[in-house]
Amino acid sequence: MSEQLVPPAGGKGRIEVADFSLSYDTVEASVEAVMDVSINVNPGEFVSIIGPSGCGKSTLLNAVAGFLKPTSGRVTVDGEAVEGPNADRGMVFQQYSLFPWKTVRENVEFGLKMKGIDRHKRESAARTLLGLAGLLGFENHYPERLSGGMKQRVGIVRALATGPKVLLLDEPFGALDAQTRVIMQQILTNMWQRLRISVLFVTHDIDEAIFLSDRVYCMTARPGTIKAEIAIPLERPRQPSMMMSSEFLALRRGLMSLIREESLKAIGGEVNDIALQGLSVDLHGHSLAEVI
Ligand SMILES: Nc1ncnc2c1ncn2[C@@H]1O[C@H](COP(=O)(O)OP(=O)(O)OP(=O)(O)O)[C@@H](O)[C@H]1O
Ligand SMILES: [Mg+2]
Repeated sequence: MSEQLVPPAGGKGRIEVADFSLSYDTVEASVEAVMDVSINVNPGEFVSIIGPSGCGKSTLLNAVAGFLKPTSGRVTVDGEAVEGPNADRGMVFQQYSLFPWKTVRENVEFGLKMKGIDRHKRESAARTLLGLAGLLGFENHYPERLSGGMKQRVGIVRALATGPKVLLLDEPFGALDAQTRVIMQQILTNMWQRLRISVLFVTHDIDEAIFLSDRVYCMTARPGTIKAEIAIPLERPRQPSMMMSSEFLALRRGLMSLIREESLKAIGGEVNDIALQGLSVDLHGHSLAEVI
């Protein structure tokens, strides 16, 4: 049964975004969120988008998911224009979006039920994927009894259960503490290694992007354009120990300087030199309360 879950390796799941722009029309004005972006994800590839807050990462991902329509340009999956949400594109959001009244397994089976898959097959598919995510012992639990990391793993498993061609993740680990986050990254990379599904992953976290990806697109401050495309030639499977390697650290340095430049632009007038140097202000032995 598990074999049926695994999307065919090679060939399927090519995402192409060409000359993409999107503006939001608000009462006051039109907000140009993303401008002239062209990116692609090859079948079975893991690609991340990284960029400062508000640069249009979620906008881009939501357009690939089919929740938003481009103002201009094209979004296609395997050559077919994206016209709206579809089960061939699984989506995982930062906030947990599980049904609280359903058990873990019922949450995972939901999409399959909607597709009319019979009970036995649903159950078997859900259990295979839950096993892959280390959640089999929790299949009959309700979401309220799960930790944040577990909830997000269930979210990923649920998005995978219908056998999508591509998986889209929008800062899925953003709400988790640093240690849990590292474990989640390891679980995700292991699952991906087994499934070889195309992934487009949005994150703020440079280490996360490098650790998980084959390629990373770095966006500029809004209106978001692609500033750089960086190949991550680290070998697979990825291990946490690689994060200490000189190759990893060199990639990290490069991405950090790209992002820092854009983050400063994004924050703009809020930050000045004094604010950035604030930690070195000499209080001459007085406490902060005395000085202010
Ligand atoms: N519905 C909307 N109406 C108007 N403007 C919007 C809307 N949604 C997003 N924006 C604006 O578009 C820009 C891009 O937003 P988006 O959420 O895509 O950025 P992001 O890169 O995902 O940010 P973050 O890292 O904070 O999640 C932002 O300036 C945001 O304020
Ligand atoms: Mg976002």
